[in-house]
Amino acid sequence: MHIRGGVRLSGCVPISGAKNSALVILAGALLAPGVCRLHNIPSLVDVACMLEILATLGVAIRRDGSSLEIDARDITLADAPYELVSQLRASFFAIGPLLARLGETRVPLPGGCAIGARPVDLHVRGLQAMGAEVQIEHGLVHARVKKGKRLQGARIYLDYPSVGATETLMMAATLAEGETLIENAAREPEVVDLANFCRALGAQIEGAGTNTIVISGVPQLHGAEYSIIPDRIEAGTFLVAGAITRSELELSCVVPEHLTAVIAKLQAMGATIRSTAPNRLLISPGERSLATDLETLPYPGFPTDMQAQFMALLALAEGNSVVTETVFENRLRHFAELNRMGADIRVKNNIAIVRGVPFLSGAPVVATDLRASASLVLAGLAAQGETTMTGLHHLDRGYDRLEQKLRNLGADLERRNSYDPDLLAESSETLPPVLS
Ligand code: UD1
Repeated sequence: MHIRGGVRLSGCVPISGAKNSALVILAGALLAPGVCRLHNIPSLVDVACMLEILATLGVAIRRDGSSLEIDARDITLADAPYELVSQLRASFFAIGPLLARLGETRVPLPGGCAIGARPVDLHVRGLQAMGAEVQIEHGLVHARVKKGKRLQGARIYLDYPSVGATETLMMAATLAEGETLIENAAREPEVVDLANFCRALGAQIEGAGTNTIVISGVPQLHGAEYSIIPDRIEAGTFLVAGAITRSELELSCVVPEHLTAVIAKLQAMGATIRSTAPNRLLISPGERSLATDLETLPYPGFPTDMQAQFMALLALAEGNSVVTETVFENRLRHFAELNRMGADIRVKNNIAIVRGVPFLSGAPVVATDLRASASLVLAGLAAQGETTMTGLHHLDRGYDRLEQKLRNLGADLERRNSYDPDLLAESSETLPPVLS
């Protein structure tokens, strides 16, 4: 991608459906022996990859723009192929629904990851507490319940409020016998979205969005129609685009409450942000952003998925900032690429010291992971001269037509190998194993 920086943006950008909701809700559709109609599904490589995995499990899929019809009536015990699962950590989340519905499943362990070790021990321990026998052999997680039995409701305390583990266990518990209590549960909006979807399927779930979720298992679920929430990370990325290019931008189709921590940081840096309608936000940035410290935390804390984008903004801020990444162990690697553009960032372990510089200059850069790629696009939009970014497959995993949306706002950027996520089936072999 070639970005000629220094151009002011203007206009209104529509925010797509949430990647992390779409992925887990697609896995959740495996719970229902019926048809689910899902709306507001973003067009992403990760979604296409998840759909391929569902297809290998016997799910029939029909797509109509941003809507999907998922028919999981006839799913089978087939193994999800490692080549696909290794590309998408979220595909592991199918283990909960498959185990709950079929009584047995084999899912490959998610592969290595660019942003840290990311184990699945919390998922596995929770399923064991619900009576599953779990063996990890030859890279496969083989989980089953005794013949003729169902998963049993249990009281599960998570050592860490893992988003994925909360989602896996919540889905598994919907079809378990009795009541399941998940304590120290993740409170992310995508967890709440999944709970609402499961409730539409007939599940009994209380407390999603708090740190204690109570699920009363039911014998069977049914199909439903559901629309997923807007992507708060895409929205946050466009807010930073406004701040970093010093442009007034409006965002439509957003839930402002999901962005509280991000908005508070942007305000601390000097931007004015207000709602122009219940689902619209307007950012009016100050002349130059002010430095601020930030620390990533589970929701409602500052999201780790916005850390890289903010680092680009802090690189140009007035003063010094300290960025502490507490959620993932290796998620500051974009600093080196930002430094190639003239930023002054030093990293030790999980802490980055960002000394604000007055300008960045365009350079050839390589995206190292999904959010890092967004951070480099943002830096490129603000930099003097041309930035050429490679590693675009990362961007395609999580941003629905980012370059097109930016161009509509007036950005000067182009891409030679434009990628159509809906054609993933033809190109998946060329995708490297990257996760998030
Ligand atoms: C999800 C999001 C991802 C986001 C992250 C944190 C999806 C598809 N992805 O990832 O975009 O960055 O939440 O908000 O929804 N951990 C364990 N054991 C486990 C599970 C997790 O130690 O069994 C650790 C991880 O290694 C990590 C931390 O917990 O250090 C957070 O992981 P988790 O909340 O599970 O993130 P994901 O669900 O993988």
